[in-house]
Amino acid sequence: MRLVLVGPPGAGKGTQAQFVAANYDVPKVSTGDLFRAHVGSGTPLGVEAKRYMDAGELVPDAVTIGMVEDRLAQDDAAKGFLLDGFPRNVAQAEVLGGLLDRIGAALDVVVELVVDEEEIVRRLSGRRTCRQCGHAWHVDFDPPAVEGVCDRCGGELFQRDDDKAETIRRRLEVYAEQTAPVVDWYAARDLLVRIPASGAVDAVTARVITALREFD
Ligand code: AP5
Ligand code: ZN
Repeated sequence: MRLVLVGPPGAGKGTQAQFVAANYDVPKVSTGDLFRAHVGSGTPLGVEAKRYMDAGELVPDAVTIGMVEDRLAQDDAAKGFLLDGFPRNVAQAEVLGGLLDRIGAALDVVVELVVDEEEIVRRLSGRRTCRQCGHAWHVDFDPPAVEGVCDRCGGELFQRDDDKAETIRRRLEVYAEQTAPVVDWYAARDLLVRIPASGAVDAVTARVITALREFD
């Protein structure tokens, strides 16, 4: 299975990606997570990416595409993958298409998670991310047993720099300007499935898995 998960910031892509990827036994490839790992270990790529991420802007394609190509060339992605956060503009979608053409493969489906803006702001402003394992908790919707501590690994929770109100606004603008056209691009190619993504996490997962049955 080769699938793309798309949707505005805070739609729940990362949250759903882990369950959906596990269901199909494919690796989850999240460009946001890959960038945050580079930022955390202070690589030159991370230093460059952080400037854009903190401003809510897209990291330049030259940096992003190379990183994704390297990741998809790894052995575990040969059986399929779930992309979370890529492609994020039409140029990236075209590159992904070319990359798959070269290995004689194609995307099976693109899933769009649909949530209204009020819910997005609620989700992002309450998100707390684990420094160690990257899991996203929420102060109201999914709080850990002990405040500030990850239930999964005991890691420290922090608020992402790009989850400040002003940066959230910019990320939503960038989504509308650059990523919404990608959704239309895939719809025109009959690859798009739109899933309402409000409601409980497991209810959304069930909706996604049910909708994907016909693509399996
Ligand atoms: P990225 O990390 O991809 O950020 P994003 O797309 O803005 O998405 P988020 O991670 O904010 O949200 P999500 O949809 O994964 O929601 P989550 O599951 O965490 O990218 C960050 C930056 O990296 C970009 O701004 C850009 O600079 C750069 N970048 C990344 N990819 C790039 C690319 N391809 N090209 C260029 N630049 C790129 O959920 C949010 C919260 O809601 C959590 O607290 C969660 O617990 C809670 N929640 C989830 N689902 C539910 C539910 N059903 N009910 C209640 N709460 C829920
Ligand atoms: Zn953790």
